[in-house]
Amino acid sequence: MQQYLQNKKGLVQNVFTKVYDKYDLMNDFMSLGIHRLWKKNLIHWMAPSERKKLIDMACGTGDLGKLFLENTNFTGKVLCVDPNSEMLKKGIKRLKKHKNLIWKKGYAEKVSAPSNYFDYYTISFGLRNTKNINVFRIFKSSKFSIKYVL
Ligand SMILES: C[S@@+](CC[C@H](N)C(=O)[O-])C[C@H]1O[C@@H](n2cnc3c(N)ncnc32)[C@H](O)[C@@H]1O
Repeated sequence: MQQYLQNKKGLVQNVFTKVYDKYDLMNDFMSLGIHRLWKKNLIHWMAPSERKKLIDMACGTGDLGKLFLENTNFTGKVLCVDPNSEMLKKGIKRLKKHKNLIWKKGYAEKVSAPSNYFDYYTISFGLRNTKNINVFRIFKSSKFSIKYVL
């Protein structure tokens, strides 16, 4: 089982290392642009107020982080986490003017983030790549709700 999971992790990494450069284009093409609408809807549903903090797991090239910042009048903060260096580099390059986006390499299963710090946790189109994630430690409030897009 352990071996299987290790192999799966490697395969997932390989896929994104191969497509990172075309990932955004592929997303538009394959979803006919609808992924943009879903992401906008998610952030509108979250309705973050100013200075709120988000951890965006499996951030890819940072679409959700950017929308979150826009919706907090650029006063919010986002920790964008992804294990794939190429996806991270692409996001950093694309969104370099946004100083409130912090980029970190890491897996959802063992992210090192401060406890009781974040107001929101998102993982969009990434949950299927994970196993045993524990998000509760890093929330400020014990009230939470989960909405996900597989
Ligand atoms: C389909 S992309 C989604 C990117 C972005 N969230 C979006 O909605 O456009 C999936 C991302 O999950 C990342 N990923 C794969 N396994 C992961 C894991 N165990 N923990 C966190 N992220 C992971 C990949 O590197 C990839 O960037």
